[in-house]
Amino acid sequence: MTNKKTKRGKFITLEGLDGAGKSTHIPSIIALLKTRGLEIVSTREPGGTRLGEQLRALLLHDAMHPETETLLMFAARREHIANVIEPALKRGAYVLSDRFTDATYAYQCGAKGVASNKVKQLEKWVQGDLQPDMTLLFDVPVEISRKRLSTDREPDKFEREGAKFFEKLRQAYLTRAKENPARFHVIDANQALDKVKVIVDKIISTI
Ligand SMILES: Nc1ncnc2c1ncn2[C@@H]1O[C@H](COP(=O)(O)OP(=O)(O)OP(=O)(O)O)[C@@H](O)[C@H]1O
Ligand SMILES: [Mg+2]
Repeated sequence: MTNKKTKRGKFITLEGLDGAGKSTHIPSIIALLKTRGLEIVSTREPGGTRLGEQLRALLLHDAMHPETETLLMFAARREHIANVIEPALKRGAYVLSDRFTDATYAYQCGAKGVASNKVKQLEKWVQGDLQPDMTLLFDVPVEISRKRLSTDREPDKFEREGAKFFEKLRQAYLTRAKENPARFHVIDANQALDKVKVIVDKIISTI
């Protein structure tokens, strides 16, 4: 029996306002990584597991205290890491997550005022040393993100917030990027799709 140690995979997260273009670029990112023969696990937060998806439904549609929201996010995240993210990374897969902990800092801390030191404690507890290797922040002005929002489904609890909320959210994301320059790539997503795609492909090719 060979005892070849599998090389740990990479963890890539996508962040940004609703309508910024995260989901749009996932298929081409997957396709690009697959050309390298990699196993790709595409997932999302909140969610990614059966329990996580149930928590997602509560989080997106039920009113609750912002700290309750934070705790449920991390409960879902614990499950996600234990059952999906960590096993995949261990077997050498690349994990692509549509949102992760930066979204908690942006939404719950930046936009809703939860103390970031509380989130830091939960982050340490739930993630240990796990951090994304690369984070793509799709940045668009608030009015553009609003315009792009889907009209063929009811907006969720977060999408019904006002412009001030989204402005705080955007700034909180940009601050996170400044604080973590080694893994963050801020993408100007307020340009034609094909232009954004070229930028995304270039960034992905560096990981
Ligand atoms: N660069 C772009 N130019 C024009 N339209 C775009 C661009 N990027 C995405 N869109 C369109 O904007 C809409 C929202 O994009 P998408 O669903 O990818 O956003 P998202 O960031 O995943 O949002 P959410 O957080 O709500 O899931 C889609 O209809 C998509 O086709
Ligand atoms: Mg999306």
